[in-house]
Amino acid sequence: MTNLPSSNDTPEQTPEFDLRDFRNALGHFGTGVTVITTVDENNQYFGVTVSSFNSVSLNPPLVLWSQVRGAPSHQAFLKSDYFIVNILSEDQKDISNTFSRPSEDKFKDIAHHLSPQGIPILDGTLGHFICKRERDIDGGDHVIFIGRVASYSYNTSEHTAPLFFWKGKYHSATDHTS
Ligand SMILES: Cc1cc2nc3c(=O)[nH]c(=O)nc-3n(C[C@H](O)[C@H](O)[C@H](O)COP(=O)(O)O)c2cc1C
Repeated sequence: MTNLPSSNDTPEQTPEFDLRDFRNALGHFGTGVTVITTVDENNQYFGVTVSSFNSVSLNPPLVLWSQVRGAPSHQAFLKSDYFIVNILSEDQKDISNTFSRPSEDKFKDIAHHLSPQGIPILDGTLGHFICKRERDIDGGDHVIFIGRVASYSYNTSEHTAPLFFWKGKYHSATDHTS
């Protein structure tokens, strides 16, 4: 594939990248927003806002997400056998903000119930996946968690829309007519 820059392109970058600029470039890929939850051996809950969630395989049912190694909750996710992916709806921006900042008790004012494994499932989301940790993969300064979906549930209402994240800001997703 040839890569001839058009006059409107930013000049092509090569490593060493400017990390801020690389991050800006990656931010041009819009994503949904999830909160991934787990529990540790002391029954302390953990939850992290994550846009790196993705589906991997239908059969077997596998999904993935990646977490920066230095995150305060990282050790809990490395030790726990299960995590839960909660898909946020467009009216859950505040929840996304709550779970994207370090805090002692992120769940204090957040409506939730517990999975059979004792992990918080957030209420009012578009759906969730209960995942057994299948494999962790070295992803540079992140660890890629691959989970096998043990069970899932989703909101069947037609009037729900996802929270959308693009270029460092929240957006609403709009329908295409075709
Ligand atoms: C929209 C959005 C998406 C994010 N996606 C990720 C992600 O995919 N992986 C990650 O490690 N951190 C991600 N973060 C940052 C974490 O949410 C943030 O570092 C959080 O404080 C981690 O929780 P902890 O401090 O309890 O460990 C994202 C933040 C936002 C606002």
